Amino acid sequence: MIAIKNLNKWYGQFQVLADCNTSVAKGDVMVICGPSGSGKSTLIKTVNGLEPFQQGEILVDGVSVGAKGTDLPKLRARIGMVFQNFELFPHLSVRQNLTLGQVKVLGRSEDEANARGLQYLDRVGLLAQQDKYPNQLSGGQQQRVAIARALAMDPIAMLFDEPTSALDPEMINEVLDVMVGLAQEGMTMMVVTHEMGFAKKVANRVVFMDKGRILEDCSKDEFFGAPRSERARDFLARIIH
Ligand SMILES: Nc1ncnc2c1ncn2[C@@H]1O[C@H](COP(=O)(O)OP(=O)(O)O)[C@@H](O)[C@H]1O
Ligand SMILES: [Mg+2]
Repeated sequence: MIAIKNLNKWYGQFQVLADCNTSVAKGDVMVICGPSGSGKSTLIKTVNGLEPFQQGEILVDGVSVGAKGTDLPKLRARIGMVFQNFELFPHLSVRQNLTLGQVKVLGRSEDEANARGLQYLDRVGLLAQQDKYPNQLSGGQQQRVAIARALAMDPIAMLFDEPTSALDPEMINEVLDVMVGLAQEGMTMMVVTHEMGFAKKVANRVVFMDKGRILEDCSKDEFFGAPRSERARDFLARIIH
């Protein structure tokens, strides 16, 4: 579903991604980890065209992300993205946050968008909060709304960039539980996270990045068993203890 081939990207002189190759099959849950600044966010942003790149190719469901003629808004509408800082529209109610994209981008009627939005709001356990504004919700609740909003667009895959790292510890699990449910239902997911409990539970692939390179791309069991690179072993030892 997602293929990344010989991807290279520079910010000016600085090479942020170097010869990255990987692929995600339908139903895969790929966890991406690695030290801060290793290029994880940049990598997943290139997948839905939020960041341009200079060399290589990315195919999403057969569509070349970097090609000139590609309709990026249309592509983005098919790939859900959830960020660290929720990125809800502060001036819109929860319900309006859930329906806006469906109406504007997918052309759904208000009624249809409302019905779908509320269905996913219910699924993340927040139906009672539909008339509130984002700043009236906790961080964990806001992130669950952001996930529901992405799901209401019927994405073919979901990208998560450290979705729990801005949350107070007691709210992390309510967000991870929603993500575990999605993974178990077969959603194709790329998840940048250091929540290794999540990785152990539902990932089938783990990618480890360092300095713009993919140093490990292996099954969960291989990664937690015996990562090949010393860098990944060090990293794991530090985040687990
Ligand atoms: N817009 C930008 N311009 C220049 N450098 C950037 C930009 N965004 C990120 N970087 C740099 O690229 C590197 C990788 O960043 P990022 O992908 O955010 O890493 P990670 O998500 O792994 O922490 C970092 O060194 C960061 O400072
Ligand atoms: Mg990042």
